[in-house]
Amino acid sequence: MLQVPRDKGLDSTLALIRDPYRFISNRCRRYRSDLFETRLLLRKTICMTGPEAARLFYDPSRFERRGAMPKAIQKTLLGVGGVQGLDGGAHHHRKQMFMSLMTPERIEQLAQLTAAEWQTRLRNWASMDEVVLYPELHMLLTRATCAWAGVPLADSEVDARTREIAALFDDAGSVGLRHLWSRWARKRADRWATDIVGQIRGGRIHPPEQSAACVIAWHRDLNGELLTPNIAAVELINVIRPTVAVSVYLIFVAHALHAHPKVREKLQADEDGYAGCFVQEIRRYYPFFPAVAARTRQAFEWDGYRFPEGRRVILDLYGTNQDPRTWERPEEFEPERFRQWDGSSFTFIPQGGGDHNVGHRCPGEWIAIELMKLAADFFTRRMTYDLPEQDLRIDWARLPALPRSRVVISNVREIG
Ligand code: HEM
Repeated sequence: MLQVPRDKGLDSTLALIRDPYRFISNRCRRYRSDLFETRLLLRKTICMTGPEAARLFYDPSRFERRGAMPKAIQKTLLGVGGVQGLDGGAHHHRKQMFMSLMTPERIEQLAQLTAAEWQTRLRNWASMDEVVLYPELHMLLTRATCAWAGVPLADSEVDARTREIAALFDDAGSVGLRHLWSRWARKRADRWATDIVGQIRGGRIHPPEQSAACVIAWHRDLNGELLTPNIAAVELINVIRPTVAVSVYLIFVAHALHAHPKVREKLQADEDGYAGCFVQEIRRYYPFFPAVAARTRQAFEWDGYRFPEGRRVILDLYGTNQDPRTWERPEEFEPERFRQWDGSSFTFIPQGGGDHNVGHRCPGEWIAIELMKLAADFFTRRMTYDLPEQDLRIDWARLPALPRSRVVISNVREIG
């Protein structure tokens, strides 16, 4: 039996916070291994990287999610009682509820609502000296997502709700005051969504039957019961929050267009299939969700290593998308590489891997892809703008990582 390499030191939590995206892959390289053991928040944890590790991690007979996520993440980013912590039949049944929202027609409707909001904001941007894109995209996506999800949102509420939703993904991974703000925002957001579920069930509002709000409010669990109002609220936020979080990827779309002017020309020329390759390369190249966690169901052996029962295991998403065994010149931004990509669900895992229906892979991948294509279209063919002097370097210690300036644009003009 091989010995799993052990990281030096008592606990590596601080090292992870300092470099969340490269913590696992750097150490794996150092130990010449796809896995190593350490302590995170004082708990023994096996960290793994690469496609073979991903294949293992997404085997539901080996791993479960119950009790894997730290409480701090549940009380901010994810909420308590949602699909992320379920296993087996209960997970499968709840997951189908999310998958049912992801039909091409529903995604097209979200894209149309987002385009209409973008068009409206564009007129405002044209009258502003400078526009900081990141918060603007939060607001634009909050409006479009709520309209799509069947969630009423008065104009007077937009600013406050946008800030709360953004705090769930933008501040959850930080420490100190920003983290506390994220906890407070989670309480507010849960209360808001609970109230909406109550209004739907009480017949006071009637969102369309296909909308997320209606589907979730009337979803019945395996025992035939409606979800408790709190859990229905967490699941509704599980749709709204990550759709607004696509703003992070949209910022990287703007960043990549600036860093690679040739890419802009190709998008403008509308080369066949190029926009699809471009957005996939954004999801591979740029950092967003660093890693996911699970627990071993029982002890087993893998590749000569022993995994004890109940051990927390973390899979490196970002590092797997950069793995040189899969990706030639991973540090280069090359959209064309996706023309030859074999579609493996374990080599390219920005939103998790494996099978969407069976495991925990993100059900929102098609939404992210469509909204990124829409943003690329706006940035290259439906508006012109300048980038004034600013610091576009990516802050790697932040979660999620972002360009320091949050991308500032000026001289915005609508085309056509
Ligand atoms: C903004 C870009 C997004 C990123 C980077 C992202 C990333 C992820 C990741 C890494 C996971 C966990 C996979 C795992 O545990 O194995 C996940 C799960 C999930 N995502 Fe996303 N996601 C995004 C957008 C979306 C959207 C647009 C939606 C819904 C509209 C969504 C809904 C969910 C849900 C409900 C889960 C839990 C699935 C489960 O536990 O079975 N995500 N996402």
